[in-house]
Amino acid sequence: MSHEKSVVIRSAKSVDGSVRLPGDKSISHRYAMLGAIAEGTTKLENFSTGADCASTLGCLRALGVKWERISASVVIHGRGAKLQAPTASLDCGNSGSTIRMLSGILAGQEFTSELQGDASLSRRPMARIIQPLEMMGARIEAEGGRPPLRLTGGRLEAIDYTIPVASAQVKTSLLFAGLYADGRTRIEEPIQTRDHGELALQAFGAQVDRRMREVSISGGQKLHAIEAMVPGDISSAAFFLCAAGLFPDSQVSLSGLLLNPTRARLLDVLMGLGLRISMAELEEQHGELVGTLQVQGGDLKGVRIVDGDSAAVIDEIPVLAAIAPYTSDGIEIRDARELRVKESDRIASVASNLRLMGAEVEEFDDGLRIPGGQKLHGASLDSFGDHRIAMAFAVAALRAEGETEIKGADAAVISYPEFFNVLDDLAQR
Ligand code: S3P
Repeated sequence: MSHEKSVVIRSAKSVDGSVRLPGDKSISHRYAMLGAIAEGTTKLENFSTGADCASTLGCLRALGVKWERISASVVIHGRGAKLQAPTASLDCGNSGSTIRMLSGILAGQEFTSELQGDASLSRRPMARIIQPLEMMGARIEAEGGRPPLRLTGGRLEAIDYTIPVASAQVKTSLLFAGLYADGRTRIEEPIQTRDHGELALQAFGAQVDRRMREVSISGGQKLHAIEAMVPGDISSAAFFLCAAGLFPDSQVSLSGLLLNPTRARLLDVLMGLGLRISMAELEEQHGELVGTLQVQGGDLKGVRIVDGDSAAVIDEIPVLAAIAPYTSDGIEIRDARELRVKESDRIASVASNLRLMGAEVEEFDDGLRIPGGQKLHGASLDSFGDHRIAMAFAVAALRAEGETEIKGADAAVISYPEFFNVLDDLAQR
């Protein structure tokens, strides 16, 4: 998908209102994939409206899975463990989650499939799944370790594997493959990453054993359909939380929001920065913590995001960096080299746009240092075809002097098509 539409963002005085976010992207992908290989009919409400999760559904259809979608409700007719050989290449679009996690399921299928994606996805590293899935018995051809992948699945053997780079997509892919393996697959990760794969497998009836940074699963387990409401996407909510942080008078309420502790480190970072956040109506849904957040703006101080914190807020770093110049003490981000291999090189994309707005930025191989107390001006920016860059700079533009144009802003459709309309409703001018 090429992104060509521009959006112009005017500055605002505050951000005010209530939002219910569309379903979390990470959970929507996992529920859809597990629904496909479960027995029975899975009913999902508030499914992600983003193009990435539509890519997952498209691939599942090509694998013989029947599903219907009426706005945000998706009904998936599970086929049980065996999928149907596709007649054409599977189109994963822009979605790293689709290609990496679906590969885990395809590794257990007795056929060959090809998985491809757009220009951005075709640049992203796949060796991280190829290597362990091949150890389990799959055969995967990929030139230079990048998509397209030609994957031949079949009978798998369990492995004992330590993931070298923290990645929940890799962990989930291997757990999915573990369902098809003889024996018990044991995975250890360097830092605990989001645990939606583990929770989703348990929700669909699989037994998954978890101990600190170690997860194991036995092969041959049957999955059973679920009915679920997908909690609101906290990574999309991050844009409004950060926007609220820009103005002391802001008041934003976010209901039905995913608050899983492995995703909510963002809230600690924001409270450390000076945002006032309270939680209410907490409940657990299929193992996922869900609730309402009330957020009040404040005077933002500064923060250093390093080590495991960088991995925990990896998707939110673009927007945190985009508001950094408006803090009093600035934001430094290190240990975030993974940002270089996301939908765009997010370290370079953020640095380039901040500089165009007149900000001083120091770029490192693994992060950024952005001094506080800076005044930014509107500019003509680029999304670099990256949804989170488009949305992050719409937020930065709210406190800039003058108007900001974001070229390729329609990249937001990847995770949050409604974003610009909702931001416009919230922004008080
Ligand atoms: C995701 C994991 C993260 C994240 C991505 C979604 C997931 O990627 O950046 O947006 O749903 O598991 P990595 O696994 O590459 O860290």
